[in-house]
Parts: sequence; structure tokens; C-alpha cells
Amino acid sequence: MRLKSKVNNKSFIVWFTGLSGSGKSTLGEKLKIELEKNCLNSFILDGDNVRKGLCSDLGFSDECRVENIRRISEVAKLFLDSGQITICSFISPFKVEREFARNLVDKNKFIEVFVNCPLKECENRDVKGLYKKARNGEIKKFTGIDSEYQIPENPEMEIKTNELTVTESVEKILNYLRINKFL
Ligand code: ADX
Repeated sequence: MRLKSKVNNKSFIVWFTGLSGSGKSTLGEKLKIELEKNCLNSFILDGDNVRKGLCSDLGFSDECRVENIRRISEVAKLFLDSGQITICSFISPFKVEREFARNLVDKNKFIEVFVNCPLKECENRDVKGLYKKARNGEIKKFTGIDSEYQIPENPEMEIKTNELTVTESVEKILNYLRINKFL
């Protein structure tokens, strides 16, 4: 007889999109912690870690960004198929790449969360010092400065991180997940 293991009975993708410094990774990490409190495993795919490995050959041209998200979307789909709650935190600036990610999986398995924070505020935060470098011209094609961010038109959720705390933001996401029977 097989022992029953404690596994998630539901899997889905929470896809955070937004400017660098908008709070995607922070929300993703906090969401993971809150899910764990409810005995739910999740896995985080994040721009900074994926770009060190799987996508280390890619830069930030439009083509590279699309390829970056294409690979990540395929990986996210595999995680989903394995039963994981999958949290993706990527700038994913273009509508077409977010649509690609969405269309790879069942409609009711993809939750796009627009992490909305004004460029000015992201630039003030400048957690990694990259906005300064972009303004100095040391980094080219930086999202929000000299590369476009296309605002999501129909995300499942929008979180304004300059108006809500991290706790409030994650509570809002958890509420959405509960109301829509993801949890
Ligand atoms: S995406 O545009 O292809 O979705 P991704 O989320 O993987 O980007 O990576 C974004 C992270 O890469 C940023 O948070 C930042 O730390 C770093 N980065 C380095 N160069 C750039 C750039 N030109 N534009 C945006 N982010 C950059």
C-alpha cells in the first residue's frame, strides 16, 4: 500500500509583471511564505535567478526578452503539470510574451498580477542601483527608461505597491485565490 503524501491538490501559476523595483519578487516571496503556512508548496521562478542560469545567454533586447519569457513560460508549464503552485516574477514588459505564457496553460490556471508602481517611485527605491546606471547610460534598454513597458490591459489583479504594504498586497492576492477557489 502506498503512503499518502501531503501534496497540493491544486496547481496554478501566479504571474507577476511590472517594472524593475515594483515589488514583484518581494510579493512572490511573501506569498510563498503565506502559502506554506497553509501547508501548500510553491516554487518561485524569478528574473534575477533564471537569468543567471537557464537564460544566461540572453540580454535585454526585445528579441532576448521574448525568448527569456518563452523559456520561462515552458518551464512554468512543466511545474504546473507536476502539480506545483508556480510563482513567476518577471518584468515581462510585452503583452505578446505575457499572452504566450497565458496561452500555454489552461485559462483558469493563470493569474496575471500587475504589480503597478509609478516609475518615479521605482526609481526612488532603486534597490539595485540600476536606474541610476540606466540614467547615466551605463545600462542600455532599461525597462521604463529606454525600453517600453506595456501596461497589462486585462490582468486578473492589479496591486499598487505604492499604496499598499507588502502584507496588505499579499492578503489581497490570497483573498483573490480564496474567492476564486484556487485555495
Ligand atoms: S524581462 O524583461 O526579460 O522580463 P527579467 O524579469 O528577466 O526581464 O529581468 C529583469 C531584471 O534584470 C531586473 O530586475 C534587473 O535586475 C536586471 N536587468 C539588467 N539589465 C536590465 C535592463 N536593461 N532592463 C531591465 N532589467 C534589467
